Amino acid sequence: MTDDRTPSASSLTAPDGFPPSPGGHDPEVLRQRALDALLTARARTTALTDSVDEGELTAQHSPLMSPLVWDLAHIGNQEEQWLLRAVGGRQALRPEIDGLYDAFEHPRAARPSLPLLAPAEARTYASDVRGRALDILEAAPLHEGGRPLERAGFAFGMIAQHEQQHDETMLITHQLRSGPVALTAPAPPEPTDAASLPGEVLVPGGSFTMGTSAEPWALDNERPAHRREVAAFHLDTAPVTCGAYRRFMADGGYTDPRWWAPEGWDMVREHGLEAPLFWHRDGGQWLRRRFGATEPVPDDEPVLHVSWYEADAYARWAGRRLPTEAEWEKAARHDPATGRSLRYPWGDTDPTPEQANLGQRHLRPARAGAYPAGRAPSGAGQLIGDVWEWTSSDFLPYPGFVAFPYREYSEVFFGPGHKVLRGGSFAVDQVACRGTFRNWDLPVRRQIFSGFRTARDA
Ligand code: AVJ
Ligand code: FE
Repeated sequence: MTDDRTPSASSLTAPDGFPPSPGGHDPEVLRQRALDALLTARARTTALTDSVDEGELTAQHSPLMSPLVWDLAHIGNQEEQWLLRAVGGRQALRPEIDGLYDAFEHPRAARPSLPLLAPAEARTYASDVRGRALDILEAAPLHEGGRPLERAGFAFGMIAQHEQQHDETMLITHQLRSGPVALTAPAPPEPTDAASLPGEVLVPGGSFTMGTSAEPWALDNERPAHRREVAAFHLDTAPVTCGAYRRFMADGGYTDPRWWAPEGWDMVREHGLEAPLFWHRDGGQWLRRRFGATEPVPDDEPVLHVSWYEADAYARWAGRRLPTEAEWEKAARHDPATGRSLRYPWGDTDPTPEQANLGQRHLRPARAGAYPAGRAPSGAGQLIGDVWEWTSSDFLPYPGFVAFPYREYSEVFFGPGHKVLRGGSFAVDQVACRGTFRNWDLPVRRQIFSGFRTARDA
């Protein structure tokens, strides 16, 4: 499977023999995977931007978010910069717009006042870029001895992931918008044996392989594979549910500073927080707004739209703590039978709809205990998909980290200001979600599809 005929192959093959993705690094397999991933992403982008009218595309639904039309043209612009110019050596199609779609030049709140491409122009631009990108993909040498951007189709995989990340961002914008329902999706599968689930699993102590050097499209912050020592700990089998979270609320969770980090307590008081974002009280009942519809909060669904501070406070109230990032990854990937780290909790194969709630197929998390086929050897379930899970860890580089292909993807965010989230949500596609994937955000963030599970020392 692994092609190790060229010296550069070692950069993609972990010393511990962690296997590459199915199909290995066969250029033709990767070319097809890249094509599929780009087409899947564009279908999602189109669904998210065709489901609202022009006014809604250009409006700012929240100061926290860009207008949807900004995301659309930014997706095209990143693709142009990396696939057309960097890989293909082409001239800029519209050099004057680069600055408008540079996320570092203009904060989200300022984006609506920029002279952005109008919806029709943005669509034409993105599809123009795409046509050229597919021509370049068809001819690109993706073999392992090639240029780092092209090797194993990395730039194409990176751009498909980038588009899917913005598709998740655009879904957040949909959640924040008011107005009638624009998106619908079938309900996720029900748990079959939730009642028999143990509340927590024991993960024995010992070292495991964290991160990856083998996954062809792993981003810079997931690399390289390295050994980590993790002491024995207990981890919740499933993410914390709305019902459990309501017990914290009912017990005065939001009114007792004992449970809160000092900055978290400041946030509670400054904003008068008393529940997760999008929840409101109606008489004796808690309701939530979800993509334009109002519904009772379901007790046994993972809690969603909580900040790191709320997750941290809940865990302290429960006499527990958030897992570290290394604990989360060990529970998700370590296979005691072989000593290897798996690509996903269930093994090395790509996710199926029976294993994880991903890709906006369902516009909500599945109830706790669903996806028994997705469980890890540790016994923990729903690690991939459903809700992003806050960890206690700051977003930091792994030993041996090298920024690639640009510092602004990860490196500029390293430090104590950002907390790591793991596992992906129902809103992210599988191309941008795996056992090693690292997401990060500010600890005050609540509009993201964030939940958590708790841990304790063994
Ligand atoms: C990795 C999800 C934090 O959305 O800010 C998109 C991904 N980077 N465009 C983000 C990203 C550049 C990033 N996150
Ligand atoms: Fe981006």
